[in-house]
Amino acid sequence: MTTWDDPALLAMFPEADAARPPAAAEPTWLVDGEVRVADGAAREVLSRVALRREGTLSPAVLGREPLLGAPEVALAVAAAERAYQGGEGLWPSTPIEQRMKAVLEFAAAVESKVDAVAELLMWEIGKPRKSARDEVSRSVSYIRETVSALQRLRSRDLELLSASAGGIAHFAHTHRRPLGLVVCVAPFNYPINEFLTTVVPALLMGNVVIAKTPRFGALANALLFPAFRDCFPPGVVAVLPGEGHSILPALMGASRVDVAGNAVGLVSALAFIGGEGAANAILRAHPTPFTLHKVLGLGAKNVAVVLDDADLEAASAAIVKGALGFNGQRCTAEKIVFVARRQFEPFVQRAVALVEALQLGMPWDEGATVTPMPEPNKLAAMRALLDDAQAKGATIRNRDGGRGLFSLMRPAVVAEVNASMRLYHEEQFGPILPIAVFDEPEEVVEWQRRSPFGQQAAVWGAPSAARALVRRFTRFVSRVNVNDVCQRGPDAFGFSATDKSGFGTLSLEDALLAFSRPVLVQATEQQALEFSRSR
Ligand code: G3H
Repeated sequence: MTTWDDPALLAMFPEADAARPPAAAEPTWLVDGEVRVADGAAREVLSRVALRREGTLSPAVLGREPLLGAPEVALAVAAAERAYQGGEGLWPSTPIEQRMKAVLEFAAAVESKVDAVAELLMWEIGKPRKSARDEVSRSVSYIRETVSALQRLRSRDLELLSASAGGIAHFAHTHRRPLGLVVCVAPFNYPINEFLTTVVPALLMGNVVIAKTPRFGALANALLFPAFRDCFPPGVVAVLPGEGHSILPALMGASRVDVAGNAVGLVSALAFIGGEGAANAILRAHPTPFTLHKVLGLGAKNVAVVLDDADLEAASAAIVKGALGFNGQRCTAEKIVFVARRQFEPFVQRAVALVEALQLGMPWDEGATVTPMPEPNKLAAMRALLDDAQAKGATIRNRDGGRGLFSLMRPAVVAEVNASMRLYHEEQFGPILPIAVFDEPEEVVEWQRRSPFGQQAAVWGAPSAARALVRRFTRFVSRVNVNDVCQRGPDAFGFSATDKSGFGTLSLEDALLAFSRPVLVQATEQQALEFSRSR
């Protein structure tokens, strides 16, 4: 049995007396245009970027996070209804130019907080300093580009549509109207980016939003509350920290009674990025699920395929980075690699050399890319996968691969992975690079065909050899990357998934479409032009 503990890593954690965690945060939440300090239940936010005291590690305390529930949900829903008023309230009636102005002011306010938010991301989720800063800056750019995308969409909508039916000419133009109350739930690995890339397009289109903070990263989110309060009218946006099971069923179950006396769900749209189990539970809580619009980003097991004629140097460097960036905690990470038999050993050797060169350390250490992971049970979960693979014949090829301490783990390159092992099928969402061998590309197609997931795939090889495989993959996933890694960006491209990996599309423009509905006004050509001028 492998000894997984690596006491040598102890010295990498900061000495308690010398460490400088951010000043302890108060348990705040945002509702009805106010940043409130919770007076009820709250919990300590404990950082897995642990502190060292006399040879032992204990989590750093970063502050307190409110544990909200049904009463606070009711306040947020009532405030949202006042702001929305069935689509005729203050926010949906605000001219779109003013909504764009409010959003641009919000972007500037977020930009002024890049360093403070990045500091908390380092402590709350262990994200390396550069990536943490990039996450916030990328979100600010995303917001500004979304405003530009809306301007382009508006110009297109101003054009008169014409078509003839039965010999009669019809003319129309398009309005875009909000959906209503949008619920947004972001994941802990991108608690700022995947929060803002749903919340902001929903607000821009005139919706009111209630968001729940991610499992980790709530304090980083809370730094944005004053910006929300200052840039948007009361009730337009609320952010509720706490446990999902205490907040989301109450929120999704909110309803009104229609004229016939039937309950209709108040939540019009859900943007959820997280696990399949939670998504199902949240959807089940809605009284009229058929009325709900949804964008879901769920689990993924993206494959990279290395063909016989692939450029091994480029492929191995990109795949190691794609699979192990942020400790493999990205939905788009490569989570299994299939290598053509002739290239298998050379690929494994390159991957091992690259992984052994990765620097472990704390998020603020220059050059450190392997950092503490926020989930308390993460190392045990990774070890169970490695034990299973080794017991069934796989080998960990890199020195000390899989060994770790507390929240820090040396990535593992696992070779000879096959169908009997959990790593062949399950999403690890952590620092493990499973490598399998294939003789015929059909074996990889069969793996993908049987996989429940359908986010992305990557194919490495000369276009002439890769073409047939790329075509096959398009039947099972939402994006195929040729000689490049799986990734969400560029943000103008649609980010989408199928099967158990998700539903709906996000991008600068797709998000605007996802959180609005088109309304046609049809009239004679002259009248349609007049209506178009007076929109
Ligand atoms: O975790 C899922 C993220 O949306 C992935 O984004 O490919 O830019 O890291 P990324």
